[in-house]
Amino acid sequence: MKKEINGETGIVGIIGGNINYTLSPFLHNQLLDYYLINNRYLPLHVSEGRLVAAIEGLRALNAKGVNITIPFKEKTIEMMDTIEYSAFRVGAINTIVIKDKLLLGFNTDLIGFKRSLMRGNEIELKGKRAVILGAGGAARAVIYVLCTEGVKNISIFNRTPVKGERIKKTYQGFFPECCIQVFSLKDSCLQEKINQTDLLINATPLGSYPNIDFNPLPDNILLNHRLIAYDLIYSPAKTAFLKQAEQSGAKTVNGCKMLVYQAVESFYLWTGIKPEEKIVRQLIRQLQDKVQQSKIALN
Ligand code: ATR
Repeated sequence: MKKEINGETGIVGIIGGNINYTLSPFLHNQLLDYYLINNRYLPLHVSEGRLVAAIEGLRALNAKGVNITIPFKEKTIEMMDTIEYSAFRVGAINTIVIKDKLLLGFNTDLIGFKRSLMRGNEIELKGKRAVILGAGGAARAVIYVLCTEGVKNISIFNRTPVKGERIKKTYQGFFPECCIQVFSLKDSCLQEKINQTDLLINATPLGSYPNIDFNPLPDNILLNHRLIAYDLIYSPAKTAFLKQAEQSGAKTVNGCKMLVYQAVESFYLWTGIKPEEKIVRQLIRQLQDKVQQSKIALN
């Protein structure tokens, strides 16, 4: 059942640079309807030059909160009045709660990524090796979780290596027991690192709608069946990267579960309601169906 929009309807939403294909409004409005909360979740397209005005505007508009997505997860952290401890250490936020006109920053990607590994996939991380493609806000959250879960060796490959170096510098201080190395995405050691790794994660947007043929891996790279290949992208469900991994016999995981678990945690921060696991599983199924429908619509 839907609550009718009226004078008391609260605003929540997602701020990002390119959110034409986001399915966060679908997930959040499902939850708002299910729990009969008089809020609506909207896509809020913001250009880089208007980011400060948009975030300040949230206070003026008395919004309840927003999600923050690509490419603003790092830039918005400076605009917060308070930042939750782990979000501060990660250096990126994906959720803002507005309370008494104050902006409070959180990072629910952390719990989203962690739960996606534990629930249903049962992926053990302690003592493992990981290769991460990308060094933006999403990569920061992923690498933080890997470090807290005892991954012993992380190789970051990024188009702009200096961004990976910044992650290494901060995280090496928090997690001295984890060896972090940084390379350019074009570095010839990528194949060797992939051959040795347990987990290969795509934390770049390459391959997401509408550019579904893009693959973050250079053409000559071979994958193997011992790998777990994880793509943070949820739409399409099977990216070019995951197709390649599947053909090599690797276990594959897409970003659907992470999206739902991070959404559920943001929803909790805004409403104080923790959706039951039954509802979460239903949302994951609905999201998978929705992704499938978008694929049909776009073909
Ligand atoms: P998010 O907050 O979702 O992580 P982001 O901070 O903009 O978004 O980071 C996106 C990541 O994808 C970055 O690592 C980016 O590489 P750069 O650090 O060099 O910008 C990577 N990325 C985006 N487009 C890319 C492309 N066309 N080729 C290679 N890497 C790309």
